[in-house]
Amino acid sequence: MIKTTVSRVFLFAAVLFAAMTAASAEGEQADELKILVYGATGKVGTHVVDEALQRGHFVTAVSRDPSRIQRRHPHLSVVAGDLLDAESIADLAVGQDVIVISVRGIIGKSKKPENAIQRIAVEKVVNVLREIGDDAPRLIHVGGSGTLEVEPGVLWADKIPKIFVPKSLELEIQGQVLALDYLRTVSDVKWSYATPAKNFTNGERSGVFRIGGDALLEDARGKSRISRADFAVALIDEAENAAHVRQRFSVAY
Ligand SMILES: NC(=O)c1ccc[n+]([C@@H]2O[C@H](COP(=O)([O-])OP(=O)(O)OC[C@H]3O[C@@H](n4cnc5c(N)ncnc54)[C@H](OP(=O)(O)O)[C@@H]3O)[C@@H](O)[C@H]2O)c1
Repeated sequence: MIKTTVSRVFLFAAVLFAAMTAASAEGEQADELKILVYGATGKVGTHVVDEALQRGHFVTAVSRDPSRIQRRHPHLSVVAGDLLDAESIADLAVGQDVIVISVRGIIGKSKKPENAIQRIAVEKVVNVLREIGDDAPRLIHVGGSGTLEVEPGVLWADKIPKIFVPKSLELEIQGQVLALDYLRTVSDVKWSYATPAKNFTNGERSGVFRIGGDALLEDARGKSRISRADFAVALIDEAENAAHVRQRFSVAY
């Protein structure tokens, strides 16, 4: 009698384990999402597109020049779009589950961090999501490590040795600080600010990394780094799980 019960428990555990393993197998996904990716031609955005497709999601990849996206996949649509154009954002946003912003650049000649596309884009997209209302997609913005704290209340952006940083990059770093400051004022749209480590690398997708909050994470050797491929894993995890709505999270080894 006891032997039969024990075997049943083992059988149940084996079936459960098999089901869990199958569900987490690469390429399988319980709920397919519709994900709109701005910056799909970029160094980070290409990994985001790859990761989302690999997990079975439907991706709409946006570029101002869609001929630059040569990739073909049954779940991939390629469209023209510009984050400076609110009407085109609205056209593309309706019906999506998640919008990813992974863009960079300074608009015009004015030397102000307010002119970083990262800062401009979050506000443009938030306004469109407000217009859409209850059915609006969630926003996941690819942020900057300058927003992370190297000690309580002190941002990495304020400690980066300026001598090594070109002016345009300095503006973008500050633009990313403004983007997070802005998002933190937004309580009526579901946003997340995904923050990479200091160093983005070309390393492999390991699937092993840490998720943090406001503090800069460093590895055992004192390095703050993450591969773009692993960052994309964390970003699509967020798309699937919505674990950091109206929060920033950071990704590092
Ligand atoms: N350690 C760090 O903190 C760190 C390091 C690097 C990057 N980052 C952040 O990571 C993000 C992505 O960087 P990346 O290196 O992947 O950039 P990237 O390779 O230079 O790509 C920039 C992307 O921005 C898009 N873009 C620019 N203006 C646009 C507009 N008006 N409308 C739509 N798309 C526009 C471009 O798309 P098209 O030209 O195809 O339209 C391009 O795909 C940025 O937010 C950046 O700040 C953080």
